[in-house]
Amino acid sequence: MRSVADQSVAELGGRMSVLARQQRDHVQLDGLLHRLRDASHEEQLPVLLDLYRLVFPHAFAEESVLWPVMRRVLPDGEALTLQVEQEHQEVNELVTRLESLELGTPEREAALDRLAEVLREDVRDEEDELFPRLQERVPVSQLRLLGIAWEVVSRVAPTRAHPIVARRPPGNVIAALPLTILDRSRDRLDGIRLRGAGPAEGALHAATAALTRAAHAVEHHPAMRRGEDPSTRVDPQPGPPWALLGAAALVAVAIPIALARRPQR
Ligand SMILES: [Fe+2]
Ligand SMILES: [Fe+2]
Repeated sequence: MRSVADQSVAELGGRMSVLARQQRDHVQLDGLLHRLRDASHEEQLPVLLDLYRLVFPHAFAEESVLWPVMRRVLPDGEALTLQVEQEHQEVNELVTRLESLELGTPEREAALDRLAEVLREDVRDEEDELFPRLQERVPVSQLRLLGIAWEVVSRVAPTRAHPIVARRPPGNVIAALPLTILDRSRDRLDGIRLRGAGPAEGALHAATAALTRAAHAVEHHPAMRRGEDPSTRVDPQPGPPWALLGAAALVAVAIPIALARRPQR
């Protein structure tokens, strides 16, 4: 078996193939990890935002589209996919932890080092083992169809860490729509704040906090954990009241509409 990393785009089934799309994202991830390593403490924040927007939709689409296919076509698909789901789970937990750690502290630097290490392990497992196995079992025409499905799902998937949500269908699929709306609204607000929000900083901070609380409320609904393997399960703390969701959903819908009028740089 040859690693996906050592194959040309033509060998992977062309640009449409899910393997070529994965290879492109993994190269982009490598670039972001190098930028993160060289960044000052303040410069880490925009790089991390870019990293989250790449990594979480990418992994969500793997968990909801690709790994179920791997479990169907490979006799040891269950063990293979569980290993990468555990890596994804660790990434979700590390990023959640990072958000509560002060910039520049040894704990945060250690969490960042481990994050880079797990992401690189995940890429190696996929490119060297899982994807060559998929390539052996699945014709090129299906690799291209999987590429389209994976791309469509990744474009509408959540962009933030959600460690409590299942790493498998149906829980992660049920969680996708509300979390995507909340996460992508948070992304826009954080992007504005990082560019400098001036007098609106306080209001934007409050809106971001409301969206974060709403996302946590969504995560705590039991339906979001359906299908989870026990090894990737996190027992949630008692969640915020469900009534919060109604208000937060309004914020989530209103913010993108308001921001759509704002000129982008
Ligand atoms: Fe991947
Ligand atoms: Fe992955």
